[in-house]
Amino acid sequence: MKAAILGYGTVGSGVYEVLQRNAEVIAEKSGENIEVKYVLDLREFPGDPVMEVLVHDYECIVNDPEVRIVVETMGGVKPAYEFVRRALECGKHVCTSNKELVAEYGAELLALAKERAVNFYFEASVGGGIPIIRPLCECLTADKILEISGILNGTTNYILTRMYNEGADFNCVLKGAQECGYAERNPAADIEGFDAGRKLAILASLVLGKRVEFGDVVTEGITGITARDIRYARAMQAKIKLIASAIWKEESFYALVAPRIIMAGHPLYAIDDVVNAVMVKGNMLGDVLFSGRGAGKLPTASAVVSDVVQAARHVNENTGLIWSQTRTVPEPVRGMPGRFFVRTDEKNRQQAKQLFPGLTQVDAGLADEFAFYTEQMTEGEFSERVEELDKIRNQFRIEF
Ligand code: HSE
Repeated sequence: MKAAILGYGTVGSGVYEVLQRNAEVIAEKSGENIEVKYVLDLREFPGDPVMEVLVHDYECIVNDPEVRIVVETMGGVKPAYEFVRRALECGKHVCTSNKELVAEYGAELLALAKERAVNFYFEASVGGGIPIIRPLCECLTADKILEISGILNGTTNYILTRMYNEGADFNCVLKGAQECGYAERNPAADIEGFDAGRKLAILASLVLGKRVEFGDVVTEGITGITARDIRYARAMQAKIKLIASAIWKEESFYALVAPRIIMAGHPLYAIDDVVNAVMVKGNMLGDVLFSGRGAGKLPTASAVVSDVVQAARHVNENTGLIWSQTRTVPEPVRGMPGRFFVRTDEKNRQQAKQLFPGLTQVDAGLADEFAFYTEQMTEGEFSERVEELDKIRNQFRIEF
C-alpha cells in the first residue's frame, strides 16, 4: 500500500517516523506493508533520509494511481482543503490531523469521500494521540450522549497549571511558555479558546450526526485569569481549567468553551500540564474519561497512523458518513443551568447576599474582597442578578 505525506513539519515527520519505526507491527495490523512513496514539502531536508521521497509538486502525488492513502499534516485551510478535496476526488483515502480543515469542511469532505467510496479520517484532529473519534463513533453507540466535556488544548492547560503551581499571573506564564516553545508566538487560537472550540465543534458534530459550526460555539479564553482568581480556587481545593463542553439537556443542545473552576472531585481536576482529556457522559454508561498527550510529534502521529491502518483495512469501502451537512445551531447559553463563582468588593457583601440568598462565601484571606458561589440557576438568571452588583472583579462557572 503506497501512501504520501503532505507536509514534513512536526506531525508529518512524526508520521514518517512512526511508519518506519513501527513498520512491522503496522503491517501486521493493516494486512499490508505501508510504504511512503512521497513526502510533499516546499523545503529541503539535507541529510534526512526523507530526501529520497521528497517532492515539491502535489501533481505527482495526486496523479499517481499507486498512491492510495494521502496523509495531510500541513495544517491550516489553504492549500490543505484543495489538496484533500482533489485526493478524495481521485479515489484516494485521506487521513488528517488538521482540526481547522475538519471543523470547517468536515461535512463536505465526508460526503465527497462517501461518493467516491473512500474514507476521510481525522482521529488526530481532536485530543492529539488520545483515541476519541473512533471510540465515540464505533464504541459508544449504545448510549444517548448527554455531555462531552474536555480539556482540549494543551497550551492553555500548561499555562493554567503553572499559574496554579506558582501563583503567577497569566502574562508572566505565557511569556515563559513561549520561551520554552510550548506556546506559539501567536498564541491567540489557543488562549482565546478557538482551538478548543474547533475541536468541540468536531466532537459535537460527531454526536449529532449534523454539522456544528465552530462560529456557533461560544468561546471565552483564559487571558483574564489573575493570580487572585487562582488563590480563590486553591482556597476551595479547586483548579481553574479551560473546559470545552457540549451538553444535551432535554431538547436543548449547548456548546461552550470557557474557563471554569473545577472542584477536586471532578474527573478533569487532575488533568495537568500539556495533557488533554475528554469526558463523555452516556445515559447508560455514565462517565468515561479518555486522557493522554493531546499534542506533540509522536503522540499525534500515532493517531494519524492509526487512521492509515484503518484506511488500509477498508481500502475498498467507505466506512460510513459520520455527519451530514445540515447545520445545527446550539441554543444560547442563557438557558444552560450551572453554578457561578463571583468576586466583588467587600463593601458589596450585603448587596450580594440580597441578590443571591443561597450563596456560599469563599474566604481566601483577601480583606478587600467578598467572594462567593451561587446555587444552581440558569446562566440567564445569574447574569440578570449579577449585573445588579455594583462591581464584579471576576466571575467563573464552577463545576463540582
Ligand atoms: N495548539 C494545540 C494545543 C496543539 O496546544 O493543544 C494541538 O492541537
